[in-house]
Amino acid sequence: MALEIEKIGVLTSGGDAPGMNACIRAVVRTCAYYHKEVVGVTKGYYGLINGLYADMPARSVGNIIHRGGTILQSARCEEFKTKQGRQQAWQNLKERGIDALVVIGGNGTFTGAHLFYEEFGVPIVGIPATIDNDLFGTDYTIGFDTCTNTVVQAIDQIRDTAASHGRLFFIEVMGRDSGFIALRSGLAVGAESMVIPERPTSIEELVRVLDRNWKSSKSFSLVIVAEAGESGRTFQIADEVNKRLNYYDTKVTVLGHIQRGGSPSCLDRVLSSRLGVAAVEGLLEGKTDVMVGVGNNKILHTPFAEAIAKGQVLDDDLLRIAHILSI
Ligand code: F6P
Repeated sequence: MALEIEKIGVLTSGGDAPGMNACIRAVVRTCAYYHKEVVGVTKGYYGLINGLYADMPARSVGNIIHRGGTILQSARCEEFKTKQGRQQAWQNLKERGIDALVVIGGNGTFTGAHLFYEEFGVPIVGIPATIDNDLFGTDYTIGFDTCTNTVVQAIDQIRDTAASHGRLFFIEVMGRDSGFIALRSGLAVGAESMVIPERPTSIEELVRVLDRNWKSSKSFSLVIVAEAGESGRTFQIADEVNKRLNYYDTKVTVLGHIQRGGSPSCLDRVLSSRLGVAAVEGLLEGKTDVMVGVGNNKILHTPFAEAIAKGQVLDDDLLRIAHILSI
């Protein structure tokens, strides 16, 4: 292992995701294991620029593995998108004697990290943590499993009303520009249809499926809609369908930020622990400008540029299965 890295900074950035705390814990404890110092940066890149640093001994991350959110707090930082902001961040790192960074976040986090590495040569390894699961180079991002479990639980509660009143529910889920949350949770709740940006569904197609269900005596229907970059669009879709199928009693639920909170699932805690260890070991082995991930149960290292540009590949077989089972 290369010995030049003595002090590692760790931060969480972008939308919080369940499992981030388990991941911080893994990074801090791995540093302690290899006798490296670790500094926690509060509020992501904002903290990097504004010097919000604190030493993190191994015991500082006790009793957080089960907690949602992030003890380091998070932010979406406009200033880090400027060269001036990144320059300030680099000066702070030098003054504090930080040799390398572990950044825990999603797409935007890695875009910033890639630029920072290119401009200042700071060794950086990223850990994918976003409920959206929209990154190439890992089967799952930290938080996706907990999020989809939360969505499934919420929809199971909605279905009690849907079934009792024979209603049609449109349920909007997060995912930014991707439909992974909608696809997975839709399959798990037995939805009639999932409206996702990767494979657009026309209003006519939705009407056809819902009309068929009505005529074959289905007593209620659930349609899962991905926000697709426009939270609230589901009201419009429901309206359009309503105009054509006026016999349905239709309701819309937007699940919102409940999807981001809560105690991480077992899968997310294990994933966070594995990736936290892999990130620190990667840095100590000389890896940089890469994201660690898990594919086919093996640790992978993917260049930031590739992870951002390619994005996660949608599993069309899940859509096919959902289509068969919604008959
Ligand atoms: O990227 C995670 C995510 O929750 C997206 O699914 C959603 O579109 C966005 O963040 C919401 O961001 P904010 O909490 O800043 O409104």
